[in-house]
Amino acid sequence: MSTAEELDAIGIDRLRENGSLKWSVFPEAIGAFVAEMDFPAAPAVDAAIRDALDRGLTGYLPAAVRDRMADAVARWQRDRYGWEVPAERIRPVPDVLTALRTTIDFFTTPGSKIVLPTPAYMPFLTIPAMHDREIIEVPMLVDGGRSVYDLDGIDRALADGGGLLILCNPYNPLGRVFERAELEAVSAVVERRGARVFSDEIHAPLVFAPHRHVPYASTGPAAAAHTITAVSASKAWNLPGLKAAQVILTNDADAETWARPEVAWAEHGTANLGVVATTAAFDEGREWLAETLGYLDGNRRVLGELLAAHMPAMGYRAPEGTYIAWLDARALGIEGSPAEFFREHAGVAMTDGLACGPAGEGHLRFILATPRPIIEQAVRQMADALREHAMRSRSV
Ligand SMILES: Cc1ncc(COP(=O)(O)O)c(C=O)c1O
Repeated sequence: MSTAEELDAIGIDRLRENGSLKWSVFPEAIGAFVAEMDFPAAPAVDAAIRDALDRGLTGYLPAAVRDRMADAVARWQRDRYGWEVPAERIRPVPDVLTALRTTIDFFTTPGSKIVLPTPAYMPFLTIPAMHDREIIEVPMLVDGGRSVYDLDGIDRALADGGGLLILCNPYNPLGRVFERAELEAVSAVVERRGARVFSDEIHAPLVFAPHRHVPYASTGPAAAAHTITAVSASKAWNLPGLKAAQVILTNDADAETWARPEVAWAEHGTANLGVVATTAAFDEGREWLAETLGYLDGNRRVLGELLAAHMPAMGYRAPEGTYIAWLDARALGIEGSPAEFFREHAGVAMTDGLACGPAGEGHLRFILATPRPIIEQAVRQMADALREHAMRSRSV
């Protein structure tokens, strides 16, 4: 098992040499823009992948291997969230975005609009157009410093032709973990309008105490009846390249629709190695996750301390879940894109909040799943760049 010291010791050179997407797109910059972890795989996951290779499991996905994953996901949902879902209602898909595309195509009224709380995970803004669907953005509100759903805005959007609400819980990029009462309030609005929900719960294992993940479809019969849930081990155990996620179906009608060959085709392409890795992660990777969450918890706090010390004008509220920090750069006096500024002048590559919709303008997405010394270095470089910028501005 990795200790904090071992994770701290992973250096930038090694990460660059390993060549992940995060560390290869901008070869000169600290990679903090894509939701990848810089940590070694959980030993149980590593062993499961090697074992699958030893057994020559590189053909098509065998039913027994697929079913073991469904059993593991059902156990995880039950043990972690007290949610009982029958394993046969848990279907494999290569990734969560395939689940979204399938939901749009087969579980919504043709031509209906997609209702999207913003700022949003970037592909949520681009995928609907690929299906000839309009988006109605509903910016999140702030209540006591916390982002909350604009229920009236969602209601209006659903009344205005919206057929599907995309929920993201825990919320990328805002880091919220929604409470049961908040989810129940959303469910009441959706149910009143006869709409559907795609509940993206990919970040569910990544929740910091005292917050607790509540599966949206578990909040009541109405939510179960109008929701397609997507889950995955891919964020928490860093497996997105292995292509395995899961759709959880929570009513008979959806299960029947899913069984149609053109719908179940979504399962095709789910990869064996991802399936065995997922099974191992949910069943045997719990201790590793607890330890990793402890480290990430430290990272989200340390980032707050570093910003307070070196860049007090940068707004930050530690995420309740996810390893994504949402930074408010609006008071820094940067003209134009803050992400571009920090990439060029600080050598730190983050996502510009504008990519998450206009509601994200002036913000940055910084990925915290990295060794702590790298966070320290990133903040130092950003603070230096700001100081130089301020000096240049004064001398002009
Ligand atoms: C909220 C959310 N949904 C979906 C994805 C992508 O998942 P997948 O690779 O399974 O499509 C991500 C990746 O960061 C994400 O943050």
